[in-house]
Amino acid sequence: MEKEHHTHQDEQEEQMKEKPGKRPDKAGMGRFIKLIASAHPPKAILIIALILTLIQTIAGLIVPMMTKGLIDGLTFSSLNRMVIVGLLGAFVLQAVASAVSIYMLNYAGHKIVANLRKRLWHKILSLPIPYFDRNRSGDTMSRVTNDTSLIMNLITEYLVNLISNVIAIIGGIALLFYLDWVMTLIIMAIVPLTALILFPVGRKMYRISKKQQDEMADLTSVLSQVIGEIRLVKAYGTESREAQAGEDRIYRMFRFGLQESRILALVGPISTFLLTAVLVIILGVGGVRVASGVLTAGDLVAFILLLFQVITPMAQFTTLYSRLQKVVGATERIQTILDHEEEPLELKQEAAKESRDIILRDVAFSYTEGEEVLHNANLVIPANRTTAFVGPSGSGKSTLFSLLERFYVPDTGEIRYGDEPISSYTLSSWRSKIGYVSQESSMMTGTVRDNITYGLGREADLEEVRRAATMAYADTFIMDLPQGYNTEVGERGMKLSGGQRQRIAIARALLRSPDILMLDEATSSLDSSSEHEVQKALANLMEGRTTIVIAHRLSTVVHSDQIIVLDKGKVTGAGTHTELLESHQVYRELAQKQFVEMGERSMEY
Ligand SMILES: Nc1ncnc2c1ncn2[C@@H]1O[C@H](COP(=O)(O)OP(=O)(O)OP(=O)(O)O)[C@@H](O)[C@H]1O
Ligand SMILES: [Mg+2]
Repeated sequence: MEKEHHTHQDEQEEQMKEKPGKRPDKAGMGRFIKLIASAHPPKAILIIALILTLIQTIAGLIVPMMTKGLIDGLTFSSLNRMVIVGLLGAFVLQAVASAVSIYMLNYAGHKIVANLRKRLWHKILSLPIPYFDRNRSGDTMSRVTNDTSLIMNLITEYLVNLISNVIAIIGGIALLFYLDWVMTLIIMAIVPLTALILFPVGRKMYRISKKQQDEMADLTSVLSQVIGEIRLVKAYGTESREAQAGEDRIYRMFRFGLQESRILALVGPISTFLLTAVLVIILGVGGVRVASGVLTAGDLVAFILLLFQVITPMAQFTTLYSRLQKVVGATERIQTILDHEEEPLELKQEAAKESRDIILRDVAFSYTEGEEVLHNANLVIPANRTTAFVGPSGSGKSTLFSLLERFYVPDTGEIRYGDEPISSYTLSSWRSKIGYVSQESSMMTGTVRDNITYGLGREADLEEVRRAATMAYADTFIMDLPQGYNTEVGERGMKLSGGQRQRIAIARALLRSPDILMLDEATSSLDSSSEHEVQKALANLMEGRTTIVIAHRLSTVVHSDQIIVLDKGKVTGAGTHTELLESHQVYRELAQKQFVEMGERSMEY
């Protein structure tokens, strides 16, 4: 099922790439409006903002008409005073309405974006692991940051203005006709000409800014990759290569920036020219008409003022289209995440409390279709015993752990806990039964103590934390750290050594006191004496729980109750160390090689 989804989404993503200039068609706009509606927009505030913008717009239309009254009424001083008061009133009203509505619009925009980001963030956290295999983390981050910002800008700058703009244009044109229909008709003839020039330019701008966005995403992902692995970069002296890679992208962005500048350079003078032409025509024609007495001087001034009231919103319309295109794209990318299947949620039974055998029946799994990495695995992991997995690198050991953690769903077959399939349990109850120490010994930014208690779900006093750390042979080195348990470990635990990280990870798993303990090469980066100590600690710990370990060194698994040999995704043997030595040729060879090495090592001491 997961796989079908995969191909479907890939198609969607490809379609998006093919058509950068995706039109803001009805369906796209519908999706956008639905997305906004789902983000709990503060409706009352939006409505008030709308009313205020309308007041502002109408006041803006009244001002020229009053100016006309002022100019034409120059001789009637009694009327004059009223007109001046009215004019001032209109100005103040316009300014206040504008200030309040700008604040409210921004409030609404920020509120909607915050809600949207919250929703996205929750969603991302509940996405299944395969999603993260397929998508660059930079892209997913960009959904939460950039795409939501695009939406906010549209709301604050355009959405409510849209309605008042329409009113400004319609009202303005009506008044223009009222003042002088002949001149208005002349101007109306120029408008289509402007649109003819500006619309294709708007489209071109959109295409460029779309490319700029893609380049920006690319640059961000290069930067985060290189900065994240800066040690690798320096160790292998690839600074200049990475510098070049970054530079190429920076220059590509520069070139798109230049393309944009060229268009802007054209648009500016053309608009100014058109505007000047319109003004000259109006002043020319208007002057003649005033002279002939068809128009008053006040009419002409009002006409020019009104014209500016109409031109500004019209200019906004020319960029609205490209803005909408951008936002429709952003909406679709956000929607792709929001529509993505989540990890199966609840409405299931809680995982069984008691310890049971874990049974795999015909389990097959592939990360990508057609490349199976586990074939038909059949095995039993007995309750309260220690089972070890051995096998060459890439044989599927960690994959098997991922399946047990339910990070992935098997393609076929079933994993059971006693007689119940683990897929019938709620994820949270199942995962809370497991203490998992991964191959990477992952750390979070925070203190040592934060890391040991991470995910515990309850308060643990220092006493308890120290007990877990002591069992993991971590207490001694932690107490030697500058601030002991309150020492910051740095991003991803960078300030600790590999072995220290590993022991903290073990302490974290121990503190949970899990029914099932899974250790993926948990002792691999320890020196042999601390390995021996951790082994002892683990031995205490393994007692009374189901323990599953992966180890490359056979010395650490010889005492396991059961050893399972994996080879190229197949279970090729199961039994105790002595049984396998007798019956399993690959295991015997592996054992011989390793014990010879161990012999050599022990001779060195
Ligand atoms: N996230 C993933 N996406 C695609 N393929 C993967 C992924 N993780 C692992 N694989 C592939 O699955 C196979 C088994 O990998 P796995 O990590 O289970 O091996 P392993 O037995 O744990 O090896 P090692 O001993 O080196 O840790 C490998 O061929 C690997 O390339
Ligand atoms: Mg592994």
